[in-house]
Amino acid sequence: MSNIYPSTHPLVAHKLTRLRDKNTDSRKFRELVREIAVLLIYEATADLALENRKVETPLAAAEGFSLKERVGLVPILRAGLGMVEGAWELLPSAEVWHIGLYRDEKTLKPVEYYNKLPVEPTVSVCLILDPMLATGGSAVATVDVLKRWGVRRIKFVGLIGAPEGIALLQARHPEVPIHLAAIDHRLNENGYILPGLGDAGDRQFGTA
Ligand code: PRP
Ligand code: URA
Repeated sequence: MSNIYPSTHPLVAHKLTRLRDKNTDSRKFRELVREIAVLLIYEATADLALENRKVETPLAAAEGFSLKERVGLVPILRAGLGMVEGAWELLPSAEVWHIGLYRDEKTLKPVEYYNKLPVEPTVSVCLILDPMLATGGSAVATVDVLKRWGVRRIKFVGLIGAPEGIALLQARHPEVPIHLAAIDHRLNENGYILPGLGDAGDRQFGTA
């Protein structure tokens, strides 16, 4: 599958297993989401453009680099919020633009309820943050919004993807790289990922 980057890092595999465990409490769950986000963002930012930058060390002048691109983090509410702190640890200057979507329980289609993007884009690359890529409806809708905003480079960073959601995102937006901690088996009849981890929003916010 092109444009799909499941992490092969042992720390991701280890932490994801603890995250899936139904006995992991909300506090530990939030910690793991943040930690896995750090590792995935490290992988997802490997091709960010650099520009030359000279610095003075205490001893001499050195040729160095700084990030050329202005990065936007786009958490999909609610569950994507838990990935922001981890992403900010690596990208402290990144802007955060929230997109509020929930899945209609019957249709499983995303319903938008929050979007305060300004008229003109303020960033050149956006990293969409959402733990779950299930049917793919929420991810596709968010890429649609960001493209209309005028962002040219968009990546999706999630924890678990279902084949159904990956296929939809690839079909609608084939140029969007998809970074995941794992690809699972399938969706159940309620649109939940199997084996997955349950409801990512409820488990983070203690609302199950
Ligand atoms: C979850 C998840 C994604 C979406 C994935 O959010 O965080 O945003 O479902 O499903 P999809 O790929 O089928 O669109 P949910 O709608 O449960 O809202 P929440 O984050 O507020 O709990
Ligand atoms: N949203 C979740 O939180 N979990 C799933 O398995 C699917 C959608």
